[in-house]
Amino acid sequence: MSGRVRIPGLIDVIRLDEPDVIRAISEDPRLDRRFEKIGPLFNRFLAGRIRKVLQVGGHPLPAVAPRGQPDRARLQAQLEQRLAGAQLGTPQQRQTLAAYVRGEQSESVLGPTAQAAVGELFSPGYAASAARWNAARTLDAAPRSFNPLQMLWWALTGAVGRARKTLAAPVSNDPTAVHATGVAIHNLVRGLKIMRGIWKEPYGQGLSTEAVVCRCAVAPATVMRQWASKASTVHGEIEPGTLTIFQLDDARHRCPSHSTVFMTESWSRCPAHHWTASLLEAVWREAHTKPAGGPRS
Ligand code: HEM
Repeated sequence: MSGRVRIPGLIDVIRLDEPDVIRAISEDPRLDRRFEKIGPLFNRFLAGRIRKVLQVGGHPLPAVAPRGQPDRARLQAQLEQRLAGAQLGTPQQRQTLAAYVRGEQSESVLGPTAQAAVGELFSPGYAASAARWNAARTLDAAPRSFNPLQMLWWALTGAVGRARKTLAAPVSNDPTAVHATGVAIHNLVRGLKIMRGIWKEPYGQGLSTEAVVCRCAVAPATVMRQWASKASTVHGEIEPGTLTIFQLDDARHRCPSHSTVFMTESWSRCPAHHWTASLLEAVWREAHTKPAGGPRS
């Protein structure tokens, strides 16, 4: 549900879940991803946490980098171009993911295998490992959790910094690769879980590949923006530091298009939109082939 939560001095957050509204407002140059520690208390806390957690060596991960950050747009375009011809995981990885979709492999292979397929794009031979997958889970949870015990535990043990190091080491500290293998990967994994569910549905296996990919291309639950200057909006007057949350996955349920899921019409469009949809398609097709050495379930 769209709306604004505002308690002066404490919190000022606007939530949006209308695809057209998100598409239009995301182009407003006053709405950016600078995440400066300004505005009410809760806003400062959230912005500071994003800056602290989602970075490598002081460089923000690309999906939380300011629009005008030097090189951001160039690297985004370069990656999109490179992924156009990139392999969709290794044949072994696709077979493992397809076996997972058919229900022949347990949940434990999913995260590490999908992560390795994405890691392969940045570091050939990227090994699937439970430690790297757990690191991705920690890095993804850290900017979202409000569980005080969990936050205290992370602070005492330095688990978030360790997770970042675990993810950065195999990709030579490349922030884009850390984003891909530590944060974006969770969307792909959610999509593959949905695919396994479809496979089990009474008529699921007969659905068209296009329909399956559409259902499995899930958006990040939320992406965040911060107002950099004053504005007058339908939600009232806005002060710098006000946060706006795009509830992309809710928006996807209203309009399941690449424009919603990957924000393809925005300056912040996901450079992996085509690669991700192609991988989902390849895994679905692979699931329909008979696995070597065994009958199809
Ligand atoms: C189902 C899978 C994925 C979905 C739904 C998805 C969606 C998105 C969305 C919505 C954004 C914009 C975030 C924002 O503006 O705040 C984004 C940005 C980005 N994504 Fe993805 N993504 C996925 C997978 C991937 C993968 C596998 C990679 C890398 C191989 C990737 C790389 C990036 C990068 C580098 C950006 C930042 C672009 C920029 O603003 O410069 N994504 N993604």
